[in-house]
Parts: sequence; C-alpha cells; structure tokens
Amino acid sequence: MIKNKKYIIVTGGCGFIGSNFIHLINELEPETKIINIDCLTYAGNIDNLKGINEQNHFFIKENITNTEAILNKLPVKEISAIVHFAAESHVDRSIQSSNNFIISNVVGTHSMLNLAKHLNIKKFLHISTDEVYGSLGYEGAFTEDSPIKPNSPYSASKASSDLLAYSFYKTHKLPVIITRCSNNYGKLQYPEKLIPLTILRAIENKDIPVYGKGDNIRDWIHVKDHCEAILLLLNKGKEGEVYNIGGNKEVKNIDIVKIILNKLNKPDSLIKFVQDRKGHDFRYAIDFSKIKKQLNWSPKANFEDMIDKTIKWYQQHPEWCENILNKDYQDYISKQYRSSI
Ligand code: NAD
Ligand code: TYD
Repeated sequence: MIKNKKYIIVTGGCGFIGSNFIHLINELEPETKIINIDCLTYAGNIDNLKGINEQNHFFIKENITNTEAILNKLPVKEISAIVHFAAESHVDRSIQSSNNFIISNVVGTHSMLNLAKHLNIKKFLHISTDEVYGSLGYEGAFTEDSPIKPNSPYSASKASSDLLAYSFYKTHKLPVIITRCSNNYGKLQYPEKLIPLTILRAIENKDIPVYGKGDNIRDWIHVKDHCEAILLLLNKGKEGEVYNIGGNKEVKNIDIVKIILNKLNKPDSLIKFVQDRKGHDFRYAIDFSKIKKQLNWSPKANFEDMIDKTIKWYQQHPEWCENILNKDYQDYISKQYRSSI
C-alpha cells in the first residue's frame, strides 16, 4: 500500500479510460487529489469529467512531452504516484500517419518517466495494451511472458514505451508497474473505436463498416473492470511486474455489430463489409491468471448487460455525442472510409 496517497498524477485523464478512472477514484477514494495532465487532442474532452468533485481535481492542459511546463504548473511537488494513460490510441490513425504515436507514446512516456524520477514518486503505473503481444490464431492466450511482437505502428509505439518503462525500473529503481489490457468498452469512448462507432452510426441509420469478413476476434472488458484493476495495482501491485488484464469475453467483430444492431432494433442490412485493415491482427486473448491469483481480481461485468447499459448511455447523452461528432470527426470518417460507407 502506498503511504499518504494524497496527490497522484493522472495523464490522459480527459480521454476514455483516464476519465472513467478519475470518476472511479472520486467515488471510491474521495480523499485522493488528482492532478490531471492532458493536452486535449481530438480524443480528449474536459466534459468527460462532468460531475467530479472539483476540489480534488487540478487540471493541467499540457503536452506530456513538455515536462518543464508541467513542473512549473504542478500545484505541489509531493506526488505519490503517476498513472500514465496519455497516448495516441487508435490503430487506424496510426496506419494513416504514425508521427504523433512516436511523439506521444514513446517520447511522451520517456518524459513522464523522467518526471517521475525527478519527483521521486512511489509508484508509476504504465497503462499498456495486449496489442504489444501481436496476434493469435484460434488457440491460446497471451501471458505476461509471451513475446513482444507488435504489428501496427500503434502497438509498436506502446511496446517501445513498455520497454522504456521497464528500463527505468531496472536502471533507476523507479517503481514501475506495467498493465496490459484487452479492448475496453463503456461510456465516454470516442466513436472511432468499433463499439461506440457502431452504436452512434446505427442510431442514425448509417452503414456500419466491418473490416474484411468481420471474423477477427477481440477480448472485451468493461472499462470499470479495467479501472478497478488499475486502482488495485496502484494500491497493491508489485513494482517491476507486468500484469495482464482481460475481460474473459472473446467475440467476433461481426457478432458484436449484430448484437448492437439487434439491441437497437436495427436491420443487419446496415452492415457494410469494407476493405480489411492493413496488417489486421486476427485475435487477442488474455490470460489474466497472475492478477487473479496474486490480488484476487477478476472482471465482474456481464457483457450483455453492460453493452445494454453502454448503448443507453450514448442514447441518453445526445449533447455529448453531438459535441464529439464535429467537423474534425466527420473529416476523419470520410478520410478513413473514403466512399465505402
Ligand atoms: P483515448 O484516445 O480515449 O484518450 C487519450 C487521452 O490522452 C486523451 O485525453 C488525449 O487528449 C490525451 N493525450 C494524448 N496524447 C497526449 C499528449 N502528448 N500529452 C497529453 N495528453 C495526451 O485513449 P484511451 O482509450 O482512454 O486509452 C488510454 C490508455 O489505455 C492508452 O495508453 C491506451 O494505449 C491504453 N489502452 C487502451 C485500450 C482501449 O481499449 N481503449 C485497451 C488497452 C490499453
Ligand atoms: P478497434 O475498436 O479499433 O480496436 P483495436 O483495433 O485496437 O482492436 O477495432 C476493434 C476491431 O473491430 C478490430 O478487429 C477492427 C474492427 N473494426 C471494424 O471492423 N470496423 C471499424 O469501423 C472499426 C473502427 C474497427
């Protein structure tokens, strides 16, 4: 347990998982004060933090590569932990152009590790992804000892940041923990990812682009389960360790899309098979027995119930959706799918 966890830094706290994590901390540990560092890229949205206790939230709008500016803006220097979410996170964008992925995910993580060292923090949680392990066939699951074999510029940039994080543990004794989680879904996710994209397009009766034949398989975890695992590791995880986090719910893409259409009473004819993603990973599956055995963590969400809840959240927050579906988003969609949808 880290002592005196009064101030923690959360990077990327205005994104999907980071904001869900801040909401969770606010609920479960109201005494913890969060310094949220986020430069508000297209994926960052300060409205994601509506409803949190402002007394416990200090927002620093800054790029994680700019440690000098961050240091100048920190309200205190005694910070117990850093939970590092900030990253470019979308595979398709990394295929279009990978520059920002190298800057934010590699250079940015390196900057945060240096900042952590300078501040003498007691724990650095580096939030990574199962995608660093590459792709599986129909059999098997990734363990923490699986080889690192990333296939996309996104996953390669995350793998690079994992290696840097580990090197700071080995070389500088920085108390680093690396988490590798599978695909998240839930409220506040930017609608470039499969689930919110399908929900929002189906609500509007627009075509749903499914890559290739839709046979690719992902393991889906509800974002609250992921955030609870991160909080547990923040309090009780062992430094220098990697922990896999998974949802125990493997689903084919085409089935996800059909489930959502069915729940929204929309016809399967909205499905549009489009050109496959370049270098498309076939399957991800996570063996999370380490965190289960060591810390008694397992995902709690029931997939069907939480998909229902997620759909309802998007239906009940039209103003959030409207703000997100702005011109930049439309430009991205038309560039990504050209004339195919
Ligand atoms: P997201 O794209 O929704 O949010 C990323 C946030 O980071 C945004 O608020 C953005 O403004 C901020 N950011 C990006 N670059 C920045 C920079 N250079 N400086 C400051 N802020 C910056 O991402 P997410 O889905 O919430 O993912 C969070 C983390 O979790 C990422 O590191 C991602 O690799 C990892 N992860 C995501 C998933 C998933 O399914 N979404 C699964 C496993 C791991
Ligand atoms: P995504 O949500 O982008 O997550 P990731 O690529 O990190 O796993 O994609 C999930 C799966 O859905 C992936 O196999 C690609 C596929 N996909 C589509 O078929 N159509 C889409 O429009 C998107 C965004 C993804």
